[in-house]
Amino acid sequence: MIVARSRDELDAARKELPGRVAVVMTMGALHDGHAELVRQARAQADGVIVTLFVNPLQFGAGEDLDRYPRTLEADLALLDDLADVVFTPTPDVVYPAEPVVRVSAGRIGDFFEGASRPGHFDGVLTVVLKLLHLTAPDVALFGQKDAQQLTTIRRMVADLDVPVSIVAVPTVRESDGLALSSRNRYLTPEQRTAALSLSRALQTGDLAAGRALLDATEGVDLNYLERVDSTSFEAAPDGDLMIVAATVGTTRLIDNLPVKDL
Ligand code: PAJ
Repeated sequence: MIVARSRDELDAARKELPGRVAVVMTMGALHDGHAELVRQARAQADGVIVTLFVNPLQFGAGEDLDRYPRTLEADLALLDDLADVVFTPTPDVVYPAEPVVRVSAGRIGDFFEGASRPGHFDGVLTVVLKLLHLTAPDVALFGQKDAQQLTTIRRMVADLDVPVSIVAVPTVRESDGLALSSRNRYLTPEQRTAALSLSRALQTGDLAAGRALLDATEGVDLNYLERVDSTSFEAAPDGDLMIVAATVGTTRLIDNLPVKDL
């Protein structure tokens, strides 16, 4: 496995990769959800690139950019058998200058996570497009866990004719249903128990019952539980995706379930 820190190191490593190339983009603090994306990438391609980059552009003022977990040594150990190239740049490598021109998520960036985190999806799309250009993959894999992010990326690729295939990977969960997330490590044991109410609310398959369950759980501050159309992320009573966001302690958690899985 080659660890590339600069653009030149990445370019040199990319040139050596054979055939079809897949990329998995992450912010590090890797868990088995990330590992599953990389395993699926391996199954779909001859060469696998993983990017590890905590993207400042997608964090708002007062969000957890500074305390976002950084576990580089453990991440590289986990990837050692799975990836061919790991690109782990510092912010000045990705942003040699403040990007004046950015990608806009349009109206999808105003709903749900976008409403709580103004500018978040523009920051995500800008770095995803840059990393697609830098890694030049045939296929890029993203988790269903971040459903609104997946929708915005699919729309960017379609609307701007980006030459890459996007593959979605189902959410990896703990055995009790909690969706794996780098932010779970912020939770105390009590908060982790309270956080189970998110997946349980989704499993009810019913908005009223789910909201009642979340409202009744101490320590959980519900932000939204809705049904949306997964291609537009517009709220729709018959939408194909149920989505939830809540704050547990100081940690904002999201989850979702395709309605067909209920
Ligand atoms: P990060 O939160 O590190 O997630 C990286 C990828 O792993 C995303 O595609 C995310 O959806 C996926 N993922 C996270 N938890 C998962 C789980 N439990 N099951 C399946 N997949 C899971 O998402 C980002 O980073 C960033 O916004 C990024 C796309 C890298 C741009 O900075």
